[in-house]
Amino acid sequence: MSIRTPDRGSRPFGDRRVSRRGFIGAIAAAGAFGRGRSPEAAGRATTQLRGGAASNTPAVLGGTPVRTAPFSSWPIADAHEEDALVRVIRSGRWNRGDQVAAFESAYAALTGARHCLATANGTSALITSLAALGIGPGDEVIVPPYTFVATINAVLMMHALPVFADTDVETFQIDARQLERAITERTKLILPVHLGGSAADLDTILEIGRRRAVTVVEDACQAHLAEWRGRKVGTYGKAGCFSFQASKNLNSGEGGAILTDDDALIESCYRFHNNSRGRQNTGDDFSYRNTGANLRLTEFQAALLTAQMSRLQEQARARDANAARLTELLGQVPGITPARMYQGCTRNAYHLYMFRYDASRFAGLPRAAFIKALGAEGIPAQAGYSPLNQQPFLEDAFSKPGFRSIYSQARMDKWREQNHCPANDRLCSEAVWIVQTMLLGPRQDMEDIAEAVRKIQASAAQLVKNTARK
Ligand SMILES: Cc1ncc(COP(=O)(O)O)c(C=O)c1O
Repeated sequence: MSIRTPDRGSRPFGDRRVSRRGFIGAIAAAGAFGRGRSPEAAGRATTQLRGGAASNTPAVLGGTPVRTAPFSSWPIADAHEEDALVRVIRSGRWNRGDQVAAFESAYAALTGARHCLATANGTSALITSLAALGIGPGDEVIVPPYTFVATINAVLMMHALPVFADTDVETFQIDARQLERAITERTKLILPVHLGGSAADLDTILEIGRRRAVTVVEDACQAHLAEWRGRKVGTYGKAGCFSFQASKNLNSGEGGAILTDDDALIESCYRFHNNSRGRQNTGDDFSYRNTGANLRLTEFQAALLTAQMSRLQEQARARDANAARLTELLGQVPGITPARMYQGCTRNAYHLYMFRYDASRFAGLPRAAFIKALGAEGIPAQAGYSPLNQQPFLEDAFSKPGFRSIYSQARMDKWREQNHCPANDRLCSEAVWIVQTMLLGPRQDMEDIAEAVRKIQASAAQLVKNTARK
């Protein structure tokens, strides 16, 4: 799964007249607006609560937690977002229009891409790209098993066959050294994911793509502003896909975008995401040349994105500095191995801060117990993805008549025989994630995370004994 902000639901405004204050009040009452605490305020809260938190007893066994102050809230919004949304309401144009076009230009300029097309979400960015590239029944697409399921669903939607290449446990990215053995004469696409906001090994992936005549599309849904050799990820492949879903570093609740330098491809993408109607189709032109769907972004989301983009660089710098400090601190704890970046990754978006946990250095304390103990110390963490290549949704898709008519029994037998990703299995049992919002506060927050990890390590034997007694 991807990190997702809980769905807070929505309250209908009914037919009340929408005044600016009423609108904002209703949203606030629905709990939809989080306010980012200033780093200073967050620091003060932590310091106050840390005074006297010297107990060595793990909080999960009744000791004093390392911290009780919350980490930075998310989403962060202020009058920028409020005014932008009110302007859209009052404009009377709520569907794709000037706001979406302005966001597309701004995101293209920010990333250095020639074209940007906004879409309803990251999944539809992937689906639109694959459809526009003609990926379809009988085609094979190489994918990582360590990703959010949408990467694979987009392939299955095309009735193409996802073929998993194992993971590099050190970086958490698709292992580019495994790609060649996954390529067959049916392979049409390599779909690497820049997982957690770090970058997959683009040098190797692009070289293999070029040499074997296989197109590369980047799933950069978690990697806003991430860079490979000084250039934004998402601009290297034939297309790059982004998500602006609520948990993402750039957030409009839902939303997505495609980047490409290809003039013809962006028009195909436009038509597909607009129910096969091109930019030239006027209101009463109901002729269609291709298939498509309605996968458009609204003016509200685009207005939010433009407002959110004003903070994007500053937030990225905060994550960067905090992640560097956290790596320094956690790197000193035996049994904790922060995800390594490839040398070509010159900027990590840190959508996730990821590390591996070696239970043997924590007296055998299982990962789940470690995460629970961390949570009790006031440090929320999670175990992350489970092996996607083993999940039942795949066999469910393959059992459908459509798939069965496309792929022979022999092909599927071979797929099953080759569908082993031992490195990924291992990673899924060792990974621990901390979400991007925890990297937005003061540096002291990183000290707290490391202190909690060290405290659990020091009391690991006691925790193991306690678990055994239960
Ligand atoms: C790697 C990856 N790909 C695709 C998606 C799909 O994006 P969305 O949720 O906006 O449809 C996500 C979102 O979580 C993701 O993390």
